[in-house]
Parts: sequence; C-alpha cells; structure tokens
Amino acid sequence: MRWVGVRYNRFGENGCLAGKGTSLITSLDLDDARRRYEHALAPEDVARLPFYAALLRRLSQDATALELLASVRVQQRNPMLILAILQWLALGGHPVLGPLYDDVRRGALASVDEAVEVVVVVLREDVTLVSRELGRSTQTNEPGRSAVLRAVLADVARDHPRVNLVEVGCSAGINLHLDRFTVSERESSDPFVVTCHDVNGPLERALPSLGRRVGVDPHPLRLTNRDDQRWLKACLWPEEQNRHRRLDAIIDAWPTWEPLDVLRGTAQERLLEALEMTDDAFTVVVNTWVLFYLSDDEREWYFETVHAAARRGGVASISIESPLVVVPGVASAQRAHPSGASRIVVAREFALPEEWGWCHPHGRWLEKTCP
Ligand SMILES: C[S@@+](CC[C@H](N)C(=O)[O-])C[C@H]1O[C@@H](n2cnc3c(N)ncnc32)[C@H](O)[C@@H]1O
Repeated sequence: MRWVGVRYNRFGENGCLAGKGTSLITSLDLDDARRRYEHALAPEDVARLPFYAALLRRLSQDATALELLASVRVQQRNPMLILAILQWLALGGHPVLGPLYDDVRRGALASVDEAVEVVVVVLREDVTLVSRELGRSTQTNEPGRSAVLRAVLADVARDHPRVNLVEVGCSAGINLHLDRFTVSERESSDPFVVTCHDVNGPLERALPSLGRRVGVDPHPLRLTNRDDQRWLKACLWPEEQNRHRRLDAIIDAWPTWEPLDVLRGTAQERLLEALEMTDDAFTVVVNTWVLFYLSDDEREWYFETVHAAARRGGVASISIESPLVVVPGVASAQRAHPSGASRIVVAREFALPEEWGWCHPHGRWLEKTCP
C-alpha cells in the first residue's frame, strides 16, 4: 500500500477546520475517491449535464482533486461537496470562477473542455480555497423530491384526514412545504410546478390537510439568510437553470409561507421531541438523502425508533435514500435498477417496513413497486 502525506488543514472534532497538519491518505483512499468522482452522476444525468460530467471526469484524473476528496470526513466524502464549494466560490465573486459559472448557468459556455481546464488550474493554484471549506456539508434541499413525497404521503396517510409532518435532515425545510408544489409530467416555466414522470401510470397525489410541520437538522439553513441562500444555490447543479429559478422563486416567496418548527440537532438528539410535538394527529416521519450522513449506530437507532412507532400506531415513515442504505427488516433490492436511483421504503401504521418503489434522486421519475 502506498501512503501519501497530504498537507491540508485537519478537521477538528466538530468537523470544523483546526490548524495545519499532515494526514495520511493511502492509495486505496485515492482509488476510492476516483470511483466516487466517476460514479457521482447517474448515467441519465451525464448526458444532460455536459459541464458537470466533464468536470467530474477531469477531477477523477487529477491528483490534487483526488487527495482533496480523500481528505474529507467519511460521511461527507461526496464529490458533490467539492463541486458545491467551487460553485460557492464562484457565487462569492471569484474573479475567474464567477464569470465562468455564470456562463455555465446561462448555457453560454464556448467550450466545455476549456472551462473544465480553467477550473482545474484554479483548484491547483490555491487548493486552500477549497480545502478550508471542507468542513461544510452537502445540504441540497431539492423541491423535486416533493413530487415523490406527495405520492407516497397520499398513500401511507390515505385513511387520515389530518397529518403532521416531521422531516429529519430538513436542510432549509423546503419539502415540509410539499403542498406548495404541483406535479406535472411536462416541464413547466412555473417554478412551483415540479416535473415527475410516473413510470407505471399516474399516481394519486391528493393530500390530507397538513397540521404541524417540524424539521430536525444539526445545521438548519435559513432561506432568509444570504450566506445560507448562497450555499443552497452552490449545492445545485449549475446547468439546471430551472432548479436555480425555482430556488430563487422559493426564496422570494418564503416570507409569505407559514413558518416551520425547526429543531437544531441530530436525529438522535431531537427526533423524540419532534414526535412529542406532533402527537396530536397522525404523523408521518420523512427522511430523504440524509441517512448516509448518520453513523451506523445513529442510523440503526433511527430505524428502530420510527419503525417501532409505526407498529404501535399513530405514525408512518417514508425513507428515500440510496439503495446502499440498509433498512432493517427489508430485503435488499431484488432486481436491477437504473444506477443512481433512490429506493423508497415505508413503514405504514401497524405494519412492518416494506419497499414502496424507486425514484430519480431529484424526483424526475417515480416507480411504485408495491401493490
Ligand atoms: C443532502 S441534505 C438533504 C436535505 C433534504 N432532506 C432534501 O432531501 O432536500 C442532508 C441534510 O441532512 C442533515 N444531517 C446531517 N447529519 C444529520 C443527522 N445526524 N441528523 C439529522 N440530519 C442530519 C444535513 O445537515 C443536511 O441538511
């Protein structure tokens, strides 16, 4: 095994950067980082996103970029974190990245390959621009997932006229307002219409009346705060102009939407309190693209807690995560699925957890597989 000494700032216990140091990165870590860059996008997204696809390919061949990703704490070792930091620098007015990313967002790049080379040069010239931000977390708050959540919620809560929502890992809490978005098979210029293709024919999305909406997150973002707005935009893919327009429209509308109850803390620290706050009505606990960030122990505790609550009654849960997240009591995927698809698992009231279906990670399509 080859050991590579990398001089980067080390992470302190809280994930923040603490002083200079040398961390040891092995050649296995670098291989792992390369694979992560190579598989960061689902095949269907590679074709839609030429700049991000080329940038990820180029970073997967660049020693600096590999070492950067390998030095990230394991729960955040996601190439999207590096891409988000680069776009965050651009949005903050970096003299080279700023205009370049503006062109990407406007679809006005003259040459994808040249643009990608420029990004790599910037990264190599001053790697600390990115390395000092590695304590951040990818906090993409994707309203497209509301299309999926609406269909699954309509199903698991169909006998309940009134429902409270708890979202674990809510980021800014946009999906706690899932009833603000309507769903269409077709692209729409209306930012509050999200596009979702129902693979097996149209699904019911009529919602019960929603009561309390409670979020839990160790680092909740505020849509009224400029820095948080910038980080949320940085986490979006620059080539998806409609996602940027949608986030801008949500930021504008946010002060007129009803306020949420957001509990700052991890799932293990605050979930029980959230369940107490919502015990006046049937409650659905939701997690979307969060559980990778939990430790094994916290993930186990989380599933035990929500599944036991569902079995007792008064609660159901919806989990939408990578199929690599093992859900106790639910068999691993039995069939091939499009690479990058997310798996939907539900625990209905008085029942054991079961697979509900599959979806695109941003909700672009939805397939129900359960009866
Ligand atoms: C990728 S974002 C997903 C946000 C949102 N669920 C969505 O799908 O749009 C993951 C979120 O999980 C939060 N998170 C990380 N660790 C957590 C934990 N231990 N408990 C609860 N939330 C956590 C992060 O702060 C971040 O906001």
